[in-house]
Amino acid sequence: MPSRIAVIGSGYVGTVVAACFAHLGHAVTGVEIDSEKLSLLRQGKAPFHEAGLDDLLSAGTSSGGLCFTDNVSLAMERCELVFICVGTPTGHDGHPDMSATAAVAKKIAPNLKGYHVVVVKSTVPIGTGRWLRTLIEDHLPAGYGPDHFSIVSNPEFLREGNAVQDFLYPDRVVLGGDRPQALDLVAEAYRPVLDGDFPKGPHRPGSVPVIFTSTTTAEAIKYASNSFLASKISFVNELAKICELVGADVTEVTAAMGLDMRIGGQFLDAGLGWGGSCFGKDLRALIAIATRYGYDARILRSALAVNVDQRKVVVEKLLQHLKVVSGARIGVLGLAFKAGTDDLRDSPAVGVCEALLDHKAVVTAYDPMVPTGAGPDGVLRACDAIAVAERADAVVVATEWPQFLSIDLSALRSRMRGRLLLDARNLFQPEKVQAAGLEYVGIGRSQPGERVLQSA
Ligand code: UGA
Repeated sequence: MPSRIAVIGSGYVGTVVAACFAHLGHAVTGVEIDSEKLSLLRQGKAPFHEAGLDDLLSAGTSSGGLCFTDNVSLAMERCELVFICVGTPTGHDGHPDMSATAAVAKKIAPNLKGYHVVVVKSTVPIGTGRWLRTLIEDHLPAGYGPDHFSIVSNPEFLREGNAVQDFLYPDRVVLGGDRPQALDLVAEAYRPVLDGDFPKGPHRPGSVPVIFTSTTTAEAIKYASNSFLASKISFVNELAKICELVGADVTEVTAAMGLDMRIGGQFLDAGLGWGGSCFGKDLRALIAIATRYGYDARILRSALAVNVDQRKVVVEKLLQHLKVVSGARIGVLGLAFKAGTDDLRDSPAVGVCEALLDHKAVVTAYDPMVPTGAGPDGVLRACDAIAVAERADAVVVATEWPQFLSIDLSALRSRMRGRLLLDARNLFQPEKVQAAGLEYVGIGRSQPGERVLQSA
């Protein structure tokens, strides 16, 4: 049976959640207070780039299964499940800033007439479930009490650029709460996803595991997952440094490591370190939570420190190869924090541009998705990938956009005054780059001449 769902907050997470639940056949009301965003959403358009999202938004808004409003009371009247999807940016001392969540709780509480399940989708500090319950209880309308609502923690595992697929085909769904009736209601909303049975989807065999647990454990699962992935990347970037010292190739090392089922092949790409709005924030939050309890989370602190250092690798390598960076013309391929998004938040590529500007380099960048008006001040923007190479002393690959692999490397080389391609994402095959007359430098890679290639 279709659920009636309200989704509060239409950022990257909320918009995907609203559009995907509507796609599953539920009646969804999204809430957004920003009038510009609201107007776009009502036209079935996302206020940011996310693959496949516009199609779901326009299908949902035209069929009537999905609508958007700035009126929380209206949305609450139309739902039994209310998903909180507002931002929790890093605040004081690494702890997430919960002011948006608190504001939403105070807005929904007076509207909790009848039974509602309040589902926390935002990434929130461990222990938030209890805090939220108390806050809501204190703002309920007269005559209503704790039995009129339940809290369920349902962390999101949605990668930007892949969020629609991650929602519809998750590895698992985590539901934390202490009332079986509430957990069942939320699980029912996910039923088509759990059974792989929804309209117009390429179905995958097998059902999706659903983990029923406490709110505290569900909250911890989210931090643990992001912190582990972030640590995995820092591990691999540290390994890349060691590979450079000993003359091994990190891409071959990780490819072989990843074949071990206990390790797994994903998130083993050495590069510029992680960026985006999630890993840094969540790692800092978990460190801060541990510190509050008197525990020094050394592994997590190291993962963070390695990531901070990794951002310096481009300038270090340019200094090593060009000797003088001041006055050098550097072309930068990519600005987004990763491929498949136009998001610049905590982007390593932007960090590279800023570091180069600090060293008085002349920086020209191209990104296939980031509009020319966005991006760091002082960086010139090229109209295409080849144009960044105009009289450049070096070209740096800073975001792993797959379309960069189709660049005509000989044409790129002919525009440059130097011949260094610094592939800070290990996107290219070194031999291919070298064949175009360029000098290849990657992260933790042995030089093509040092490699003994063997066929199986
Ligand atoms: C991450 C998680 O992957 C999601 O599961 C989670 O829901 C989300 O955070 C969140 O908490 O909202 P996201 O930040 O969108 O998703 O992007 P990822 O694909 O995880 O990439 C994060 C960063 O790590 C990017 O800068 C990427 O370039 C970098 N990365 C990733 C590497 O440097 N190496 C890798 O092997 C993989």
